[in-house]
Amino acid sequence: MVYLKNLTVSVSNKIILDNLNFEFKKNKVYALMGPNGSGKSTLAYTIAGHPAYLTDKKSKLIFNGKNIVKEPPEKRAKDGIFLSFQSPLSLGGVTVFQLLRLALSGIKDPLSVKQEIDKLAKKLHIKKELLSRSLNDGASGGEKKKLELLQAVLLNPKLLIFDEIDTGVDVDALKIIAQFLDGFKKNRTIILITHYNRILKYIRPDKVLVMTAGRIVKEGDYHLAEQVEKEGYAAIKS
Ligand SMILES: Nc1ncnc2c1ncn2[C@@H]1O[C@H](COP(=O)(O)OP(=O)(O)OP(=O)(O)O)[C@@H](O)[C@H]1O
Ligand SMILES: [Mg+2]
Repeated sequence: MVYLKNLTVSVSNKIILDNLNFEFKKNKVYALMGPNGSGKSTLAYTIAGHPAYLTDKKSKLIFNGKNIVKEPPEKRAKDGIFLSFQSPLSLGGVTVFQLLRLALSGIKDPLSVKQEIDKLAKKLHIKKELLSRSLNDGASGGEKKKLELLQAVLLNPKLLIFDEIDTGVDVDALKIIAQFLDGFKKNRTIILITHYNRILKYIRPDKVLVMTAGRIVKEGDYHLAEQVEKEGYAAIKS
């Protein structure tokens, strides 16, 4: 689904990701772990096409067989890449319905967008009142994460990257989010960037990756996430 080939990324003239080589496959869920500042969000931004993250000449990002490294973020999004930000932004004057109606114009009619939003909001226990507000305006941390998931589902992407969707959500919300994602994973690739093992109890990753200083230093199954939690990253490296 997405293949990182010699991926080297710098920002403000500093190399953050150092020659990554890895293939994220279809129908698989990946957990990406690693200490603060190791480059997890940078990888997410790079795949989504954030212009501040510069790739070097040798870097390739193959998505569905095509090198997308030079493509702008909006093209990548249209082709099926969705990134949920670690800190979702607020959008003044635009409701989630208005945003999705625009994003899906020509693909879904506004009425069905509205109906799907209402249905999903119910499933995800999102308060109705939140839907009529400007996107994320005054929303709590957990509410924002649920709204991110709602947008992801409506946009029907092939590759979903959730940057810390489990941070700041309560135990019940976490269970709802994770179980919902588990039912949504078929025919897609899901990358969960996380610091905690707890979400992985409800959505079991096929692979756990540990990133340190811009490199993937270890791969394993879900037991690796348990080991990280128990022993910390220093033990993993050694
Ligand atoms: N725009 C930027 N300008 C300068 N440095 C940056 C920029 N973006 C990221 N970095 C640096 O790149 C490194 C990796 O950051 P990144 O946000 O990818 O880490 P992370 O693994 O997601 O960490 P966390 O677990 O804290 O979210 C950090 O040292 C960070 O300061
Ligand atoms: Mg991060």
